[in-house]
Amino acid sequence: MDELDARAGLDLAFDRAAARYDLLTGLNPGYHRHLAAAADALAGRLRSDPAVLLDLGCGSGSSTAALARAIPRARIIGVDASAGMLARARAKPWPARIDFVHAPAQRLPDLGLPRADGVMAAYLLRNLSPDDRDAVLASIHAELRPGGWLVVQEYSVAGRPLAVLTWDLVCWLVVIPLSWLVRGSPRLDRDLWRSVRGFDTTDQVAARLAGAGFDAVEHRRAGGWQRGVLHTFLARRPFEGTQDAHRRTASR
Ligand SMILES: C[S@@+](CC[C@H](N)C(=O)[O-])C[C@H]1O[C@@H](n2cnc3c(N)ncnc32)[C@H](O)[C@@H]1O
Repeated sequence: MDELDARAGLDLAFDRAAARYDLLTGLNPGYHRHLAAAADALAGRLRSDPAVLLDLGCGSGSSTAALARAIPRARIIGVDASAGMLARARAKPWPARIDFVHAPAQRLPDLGLPRADGVMAAYLLRNLSPDDRDAVLASIHAELRPGGWLVVQEYSVAGRPLAVLTWDLVCWLVVIPLSWLVRGSPRLDRDLWRSVRGFDTTDQVAARLAGAGFDAVEHRRAGGWQRGVLHTFLARRPFEGTQDAHRRTASR
């Protein structure tokens, strides 16, 4: 399967899962709390008010709602590749400052969106091929104003046997059976299990962020059953000049 087919297949899988997506995430203890914590972390870094924010891979709007609550005056644009997930998001009541755009994150440079003060990417990166992760991080960097912040929320277990065991047990004993009961098909959640198993280590995520030009990279770990499994990364687009000065120093 080539990359375009893989992307179309993923969009279709999310389209099909859209109707029950909120129900299943609602059954995940901590899902909304962790989104709120990521949105709060971003809120604490922003310097503009009202800020312009992008929510990449916004899905049915849970991450968008977390942003809207944490940063009440922000203009927020949610972007997602799945028409079904976006239809769920759009069907919810939103203030006028919130919009949604149907597009893959890989097309970010062509979308003509306003320069952003902050970007959230919650559970998006893992759904991209390794090359696309770097390309999308580079285009997020380009869409941010200097001094703007990115928050990435993602599951990662690679390289940590206890986290792998936790992830396997939770998926095969809880998530996949629940998904079978609620959706009648566990396919998306089997893909979730597999994609997390195959995803970057946390060091690789941090290295990708630095490679895309971000600085001040901070890694926060979730607690509870998601300890070692769920991670939040904050990263800043450096202020103009800082990066050039850094590059000049580094190349000496
Ligand atoms: C696990 S959901 C997370 C949704 C939301 N951010 C949340 O926290 O509830 C991942 C979302 O990423 C979207 N997605 C996957 N690949 C994408 C891509 N290349 N570009 C944009 N959205 C993508 C999917 O359609 C899906 O809605």
